[in-house]
Amino acid sequence: MRQENFNVLISTRRPRSLDEMVGIEEANFAGSPLFQGRDQLVPLAFNPKYVFAAAYLPGWKLVGYCSGTALEKYLDEELPLVAETSPKGFSHSASVYVESIECSPEFHNRGVGTSLLNRFATEATKMGFTHIAGHFREGASHRVAVKVLKGILVDIPVINYGDTGEKYHYLIATIGKPLPGLAPGTS
Ligand SMILES: CC(C)(COP(=O)(O)OP(=O)(O)OC[C@H]1O[C@@H](n2cnc3c(N)ncnc32)[C@H](O)[C@@H]1OP(=O)(O)O)[C@@H](O)C(=O)NCCC(=O)NCCS
Repeated sequence: MRQENFNVLISTRRPRSLDEMVGIEEANFAGSPLFQGRDQLVPLAFNPKYVFAAAYLPGWKLVGYCSGTALEKYLDEELPLVAETSPKGFSHSASVYVESIECSPEFHNRGVGTSLLNRFATEATKMGFTHIAGHFREGASHRVAVKVLKGILVDIPVINYGDTGEKYHYLIATIGKPLPGLAPGTS
């Protein structure tokens, strides 16, 4: 982690309350079609089936997090945004989908997101996942993903993701054994 973040701790500890996660979400996504309300954030924060990494200041003040669970859950629930842009036939119970990665604006571009995704990948591997999938926003988010995820199998540009008017990238990367049927570099 960069020097300026020496006092930020990356941990799997769950937040002490939902309010801090809601605050981070509001700071980054208020007014966006992708905004997730309190009810939507509950499983991300507290469901043990979700891979979770968080960034804390001393005193356990939450300043960032990365959370998500099995890709199959998102496909099974036919979340159009995930299902429509997933490569056809790709549904693998050992893939974890990054539902959200974000940090407080005052911590943007200070190395926190990189550390969060690194820890998320480590924890996902421990939980038995062999692949990470996710929609990563063009810019810092995509840059972090490309930096951290070494075994990228697909990187599919999604223009106007979720009617945000922004470009995202659907990435699938191996964090374990290669998945049969998806050769490196497939797009
Ligand atoms: C995305 C996010 C979690 C990344 O965390 P972060 O702490 O800012 O990221 P880091 O500082 O670890 O790394 C950012 C990288 O992106 C680069 N970057 C920053 N802005 C960029 C841009 N507009 N285009 C390309 N790269 C950019 C930085 O230079 C850095 O790369 P480097 O380490 O090679 O120099 C954070 O910026 C955030 O919360 N953004 C708002 C919410 C959001 O967009 N979430 C993602 C939705 S998929």
